[in-house]
Amino acid sequence: MVSIFDLIHDPKSKQTLQALTEERRVWLDWKPFEDIKALSAQLPDLAADHVACDGAKIVIGTPRDADDPLYQQIDATCKAILPWKKGPFQLFGVDIDAEWRSDYKWDRLREKLPSLRGQNVLDVGGNNGYYAFRMLADEPAYVLNIDPVPRLWYQFNLLQHFARRPELEFFMWGWQETIHFKHLFDTVFCMGIIYHHHDPIQILKQLYQTLRPGGLLVLESIVIPGEEDMCLFPADRYAKMRNVWFVPTVPAMVNMLQRTKFIDIEVVAVNRHESEEQRTTDWNPGQSHADFMDPEQPDRTIEGYPAPHRAIVFARKKSA
Ligand SMILES: C[S@@+](CC[C@H](N)C(=O)[O-])C[C@H]1O[C@@H](n2cnc3c(N)ncnc32)[C@H](O)[C@@H]1O
Repeated sequence: MVSIFDLIHDPKSKQTLQALTEERRVWLDWKPFEDIKALSAQLPDLAADHVACDGAKIVIGTPRDADDPLYQQIDATCKAILPWKKGPFQLFGVDIDAEWRSDYKWDRLREKLPSLRGQNVLDVGGNNGYYAFRMLADEPAYVLNIDPVPRLWYQFNLLQHFARRPELEFFMWGWQETIHFKHLFDTVFCMGIIYHHHDPIQILKQLYQTLRPGGLLVLESIVIPGEEDMCLFPADRYAKMRNVWFVPTVPAMVNMLQRTKFIDIEVVAVNRHESEEQRTTDWNPGQSHADFMDPEQPDRTIEGYPAPHRAIVFARKKSA
């Protein structure tokens, strides 16, 4: 079993992260999680006979019939942690059709991504670990998925309870905690994060120092179309999201990386965001992408802003 606490050498950083982990453990006891906590505690001590991370759907365990007691128990436990935003997963035959077809994003970057074999990898804001599981197909040495949301801890730990992958860890930490990861990672993923926080430059600076010399950052963001290096700063909501601070064009995203010292910047994919990739499902019964767009003008959000596109950019830290 690999652990971030073995990789970090600075005793103060270790102490701070240990204390924070303890502090946040109480989040798991919050009232909305009472059912999921009780259901999780009743799960059988069973290692999945089969874990497949190389397809669109992460498959854990050989499928059981719908009337099998294990199927029913897992189905009830999965449903107690709705909504599932990232996926798809299949757990002993329970198909979790999450809001996002996260495999679409993975496919866009996979083609150009160098192998992660033997690497230490960090996914910042990795949600329930969908991408972290996908990375395992490359046989990395260690993958750390951080996301400071207890519902996602429960989703990840439900999957990991059966998958039992020793090279995979999840902590309820945010990008803020990456200050403690100095020169630890070969590849760092930061996808769907920078526009949700008001200091993207601070995030990029911190991620730079988490990388080993020559290490790779995979940065993914909502972008607006345009050749100029500009950012949209929404007055209030953007595509109904309250927490979007700004949306760059691709050239502005590249500038941010240049100005935070990254080199070898490569725009790997740019695409219009479509409802096929993010939609309402039984596992995410709330609103989704189609509800966030202007029904009369498909190139506008419901607020009248340019509709979201998405970009993936690779960038490296200088070699020593
Ligand atoms: C738009 S989702 C992106 C998820 C995933 N990385 C992807 O690309 O599909 C944003 C994620 O950021 C997480 N998040 C919230 N606060 C955060 C923080 N302070 N640091 C890192 N991630 C955070 C959310 O819980 C959520 O999983």
